[in-house]
Amino acid sequence: MKNTFVKDADSYLGKMNREVALHVFRGGYYGIIDTSGDVWREHRRFALQVFRNLGLGKNLMQEKILYEVDALIEDLNELSKSGEEFSMQEIWDKRVGCVINQMLFGYRFDENTTDEFRYLKRLLSEAMREVSQPATIISLMYPITRYILPFGPIGKSRWDKMLCYWRAFMDFFDKQIVAHKVNYEEEESRDYVEAYLKEKKKCEDQGDFKSYSILQLKSALFDLWIGGLETTSNTLTWLIVYILHNPTVQDKIHEELDRVIGSGRIITTADKADLPYANAVINETQRLANLLPMNLIHELSRDVDLMGCRLKTGTAVVAQISAVLYDDKRVDVGTRVDELLVDVCMRAVLTGRSGLVMTGGARSRQGGLGELAE
Ligand code: HEM
Repeated sequence: MKNTFVKDADSYLGKMNREVALHVFRGGYYGIIDTSGDVWREHRRFALQVFRNLGLGKNLMQEKILYEVDALIEDLNELSKSGEEFSMQEIWDKRVGCVINQMLFGYRFDENTTDEFRYLKRLLSEAMREVSQPATIISLMYPITRYILPFGPIGKSRWDKMLCYWRAFMDFFDKQIVAHKVNYEEEESRDYVEAYLKEKKKCEDQGDFKSYSILQLKSALFDLWIGGLETTSNTLTWLIVYILHNPTVQDKIHEELDRVIGSGRIITTADKADLPYANAVINETQRLANLLPMNLIHELSRDVDLMGCRLKTGTAVVAQISAVLYDDKRVDVGTRVDELLVDVCMRAVLTGRSGLVMTGGARSRQGGLGELAE
């Protein structure tokens, strides 16, 4: 896996079967998820650079995240008082959504904008549900099928719904972009849209009107929203599920937190090195949750010899990261988050081999802005 997708990453950079997404939905060769080559390279690089400038991995971003952690603890306190059941997924969604929205548009969702968040989240969930329907997948891969009976009407109505969701997202982004007052004299930017509009102007001043367009901005915003929200909140929800089912693991985390942090302050990233057990559980969650087992479908950008097979340019390739994550030579594939598994991961943390899920596979060089989340 490492020799193929990491060491020879350039051969696997293409993206498979993206024509419909690019031409019907995005309106051209735009975005990050569906592109490859120069457009992908430039806009992925730009997004990473903007997020670093906005403080990712530094105190500035930590402050924003800790603000949401405080709010989350308050939410939980309130909800637990009511004694009613609640969805942890919804709580994560909102807090993760606040952080992402702040990075992209410069504001978090508060009581005045909660409805906006609900609207976006609903759009996202419905679009995800729609896109995973076989009829939608077939109509996206082979658009002609939406005119063929008996499948046609189903495919067509799903296709129309997808277009509707897409346009609703684009309308929201349009509103955000128009609302941005950019001071082009200031070098620093408060969010991704502002940084992008400045970069756009810089390119245009040099006669380049193509590289940084508004269509590209809206497509990238869509990718960052859709790529960041549910991946992060689903991983966190899995963490809760695993520890709920493993009280011993839960007790050990508590013991470590009580001993290292106490109850008088909040945890920060500076504590990371002193919390090996909590780190191990997080790594283990990422390994077991294996959130996007198929990754994106890539395409060979040149011919390769893969373990004796000659594969031609244009061949579709899926990195089966499960082969590494659930490799029984590495871990006991029982697979419960039990003491044994956490111990295996714990050794990885202590020997500096952690981050298996986020860095060990194809994503480390090819994609996944979420790798910054490490
Ligand atoms: C636990 C959290 C996350 C997980 C498990 C995750 C996982 C992944 C995976 C498996 C891919 C496909 C890589 C490939 O096949 O090339 C991907 C791509 C991507 N992710 Fe994430 N991600 C996470 C968080 C985020 C966040 C927070 C953002 C942005 C705010 C993000 C944005 C993206 C984008 C834009 C891509 C497409 C990259 C490309 O085409 O090169 N992800 N992610």
